[in-house]
Amino acid sequence: MPSTVLVGAQWGDEGKGKITDLISSDYDYVVRYQGGNNAGHTVIHGDTKLALHLMPSGVLYDSCVPVIGNGVVVDPSVLVQEMEMLHAGGISTERLAISCDAHVIMPYHIDLDGAAEKRLGKNEIGTTKRGIGPCYQDKAERIGIRIQDLLDEHILEKKLETALASKNHILEHYGLDTYTVEQLLDWCRPYAEVIRPHVAETAQLLNQALREGKNILFEGAQGTLLDLDHGTYPFVTSSSCCAGGACTGTGVGPKAITKVIGIEKAYITRVGSGPFPTELDDEIGDLIGEVGGEYGVTTGRKRRCGWFDAVIARYAADCNSLTDVALTKLDVLSCVDTIKVCVAYEADGKTYDYFPMQHSVMYPKHVTPVYEELPGWKGEDLTGCRTFEELPENARNYVLYLENLIGVPISIIAVGPDRDQTIYRGWSSR
Ligand code: GDP
Ligand code: IMO
Ligand code: MG
Repeated sequence: MPSTVLVGAQWGDEGKGKITDLISSDYDYVVRYQGGNNAGHTVIHGDTKLALHLMPSGVLYDSCVPVIGNGVVVDPSVLVQEMEMLHAGGISTERLAISCDAHVIMPYHIDLDGAAEKRLGKNEIGTTKRGIGPCYQDKAERIGIRIQDLLDEHILEKKLETALASKNHILEHYGLDTYTVEQLLDWCRPYAEVIRPHVAETAQLLNQALREGKNILFEGAQGTLLDLDHGTYPFVTSSSCCAGGACTGTGVGPKAITKVIGIEKAYITRVGSGPFPTELDDEIGDLIGEVGGEYGVTTGRKRRCGWFDAVIARYAADCNSLTDVALTKLDVLSCVDTIKVCVAYEADGKTYDYFPMQHSVMYPKHVTPVYEELPGWKGEDLTGCRTFEELPENARNYVLYLENLIGVPISIIAVGPDRDQTIYRGWSSR
């Protein structure tokens, strides 16, 4: 029963949607295990470009059961909207299973996300303002509303009373409108009816599937450096994006996982605030951003762009036990003359070949990247290449150079957003 975790190995937006969609046909279940609609995963379906925020990217295959695991936070209004969007495109969501234990993003979570950012002022995290952090906060405080609560108004009423006793107090403190239980019951009611047939004991479902020899793909959202524990805290999201999160976020144990594929862009981007050692605050960064179409799928914000950072790539290989890497957007680097790769950091007279987590070292003004410069393949169009041998020599050398630095096989290379714009280099789901 081979199971694969697919994780972002950088700061998110690495192309997880494309790769999940690409390999989904090999799996019986595709499962989201953390995050919520802060994610924006792009999948090209025929001539249509779909942006999925909550639905696992495997939803496009009839053979796949899409599952939203217990570790996900679900805004029911977004989920229902996304289901409607898929139906309009002729895609069925009938097979969708949603964990009864997943937490619900309520309207007050969104208000509080905005208020907390405003309070931080110039120190803001740059969240997606989708209520993600405040929802996970309530989960940890044990006053969260779960999907199963939506199915019983009596229970929901009691839970909302408890939550509002605390939330209204804070909303008032911020000078925001408060909520009544009735208002929120009315808000939940129509969504609950759409969601009801999909609610399931997903941990049991997935473990039973494994016993029957079925294959599971766990689709990560965000990325390693946005992980609450392993990322650039406090400039992170509020969930466990790393591969370990697939276990806590679904109820499947670690022995069930046989492969972990890290998705990495051939350069790096970041949306929101926080350290970014290889950031290109110049015309090269702007050029890569323009050619790569680097604008957020969820918020439309311009993504910060920088050179590939092998220190981060090695860190992600460790944190996630990567068995494979999928390198995406190699085609975009056709726009530059030469390509830099960060191989180490220097700070306070010391060289770091590992990712330093101490704030005093990692703070952006403190670390200086040590770069190696490689010749590019400017002007050569890679989007038609389908085998490694068809790539220009310098592009092949770049891939081999990165593979050697990361220490993990690069078994998939993406040279365009479409499903077929892909080069396989030994990837197998088994
Ligand atoms: P995700 O959040 O990790 O799923 O990534 P996003 O969907 O937010 O951003 C990745 C963007 O790059 C999307 O617009 C994809 O269609 C696009 N994309 C994915 N792979 C490639 C590739 O190899 N080349 C190019 N040019 N675009 C790609
Ligand atoms: P996908 O799955 C890139 C970033 C936000 C912010 C920080 C915290 O598409 O890769 P949050 O709203 O989660 O509390 O914001 O995390 N962030 C992402 N950046 N891709 C994402 O998802 C992201 N989801 C959250 O920009 O810096
Ligand atoms: Mg994205």
